[in-house]
Amino acid sequence: MQPGADALVLFGATGDLAKKKIFPALYNLERRGELTVPVIGVARSDWSDDDFRQHAHDSIITAVPNAAASAIESLLARLDLVQGDYADGATWQTLKDTLDKHNSETCVYYMAIPPSMFPTVATALAGAGLNDRGRIVVEKPFGRDLASAEALNDTLHSVFPEERIFRIDHYLGKESVEDLLVFRFSNSLLEPVWNRNYVRSVQLTMAESIGIEGRGAFYDSVGAIRDVLQNHLLQVVALLAMEPPVGPDSKHLQDEKAKVLSATRALDCDHMVRGQFTGYLDEPGVAPDSTVETYVAVKFEIDSWRWAGVPFYVRAGKGLTSGATEAVVEFDSPPRMLFDESGGATPNRNLVRFRLGSNDGVTFTLQAKTPGEDLDSEDVDVSVDFAAALGERQEAYERLINDALDGNPRRFARIDIVEETWRIVQPALDNPGPVYPYERGTWGPAESEQILNGDSWFLPSGPAKPTTLQE
Ligand code: NDP
Ligand code: BG6
Repeated sequence: MQPGADALVLFGATGDLAKKKIFPALYNLERRGELTVPVIGVARSDWSDDDFRQHAHDSIITAVPNAAASAIESLLARLDLVQGDYADGATWQTLKDTLDKHNSETCVYYMAIPPSMFPTVATALAGAGLNDRGRIVVEKPFGRDLASAEALNDTLHSVFPEERIFRIDHYLGKESVEDLLVFRFSNSLLEPVWNRNYVRSVQLTMAESIGIEGRGAFYDSVGAIRDVLQNHLLQVVALLAMEPPVGPDSKHLQDEKAKVLSATRALDCDHMVRGQFTGYLDEPGVAPDSTVETYVAVKFEIDSWRWAGVPFYVRAGKGLTSGATEAVVEFDSPPRMLFDESGGATPNRNLVRFRLGSNDGVTFTLQAKTPGEDLDSEDVDVSVDFAAALGERQEAYERLINDALDGNPRRFARIDIVEETWRIVQPALDNPGPVYPYERGTWGPAESEQILNGDSWFLPSGPAKPTTLQE
């Protein structure tokens, strides 16, 4: 752990992410009494302090309509604005003066700005002598491919050591995603069967019903592979597949994730299908002839004693039937003997479904005897909604901002892991192949079934249903 921070500097305070995620998260931290430091926005926009406070206020009210006025007031009282161009030395001097005014010695510099600006801001901080008194939080995407991620990292490392670079992947801040680690390693009934001897396949679906929501220019420069597959989804694969960490430190967790990702083969493009929803080309900011994918489905293969031969099917898409993020672990079929004799069908395979998005929770799909004379079985779900069982949890950005202020890197992406994930998707970037059209409101292009070796994608399961006796 590093020393706690005594100030939060927010670059990009006028931007979309600040509005949608960061101010609402700061509000919730303030409401719970967990925010204790000044928050200094930095903006090139010609805003006054009052404009800035009004903007923060409006962002909070939009996200949390019933927000408590007292908590908003105390958050607004923490805000300061440094206004100026990044190319102007006076901006950095004003920032330094503002930090001095708050007697800040250790601050968090949160870069909620376009990634192309990360090097500019990091080196300007160093130029002003501000790099020695804080750590940086950098947003995703971290690079556009392996080479650019390495180059960005070299630049950041020239002014901040690795332990003071916190790379955000907000999936790592989700309770439901972190639960994969706890669920796997605190339930000893799972570990003996969590391997190639019992698991037939693993599927991971990140389905969004929304489109690109006015972010056309950004999205068209990335696509689904860079936007979510390289980061969020490979992080989830790592948590599903890694070995147990040998201890509780951030390093132990990151080491195991790095190991399993380094055992993951670079994508074979024959096992990838890209899609684009009809109408994408009409979105503002999208090139009229764009071949950028809004959908991707792939098969990952992990060359380890635990997983060799078990396919990890992963798909992500926008404009799909419904929104859901779900990992499904499918176990092998039981032997038929008992059911042969009775003439019944082979029981369906057991599934463990982790719902990672809204309605997060877990469902075990098991087999139980169908009432009647015969020894037949049918699916029964044993399911839990975590919010109902455990109470409401914090949003990812609240947890990550808190961690950054505390100096805890556990839920951030270490550079070797980021580089491994770029290595894994690099063939798809070099050789993207065709992009298949699909209609909005469907599950993506039919071609995505081709990578499944005759199987089908599991439909997301929806929230847990209360178990009731049938009439
Ligand atoms: P915006 O395009 O809204 O930009 C954020 C702010 O950065 C702007 O308000 C602007 O502030 C400043 N800025 C924009 N362009 C430049 C430039 N060329 N030079 C200097 N400053 C510039 O971005 P977002 O808020 O959407 O994203 C910020 C970061 O968060 C990005 O890394 C993005 O990938 C990441 N992210 C965003 C998500 C989202 O939903 N928006 C989701 C996940 C990650 P000003 O000019 O006032 O200084
Ligand atoms: C972001 C992507 O990182 O994650 C977006 O840039 C995507 O395109 C979002 O919509 C999804 O996050 P969540 O938390 O809603 O699953």
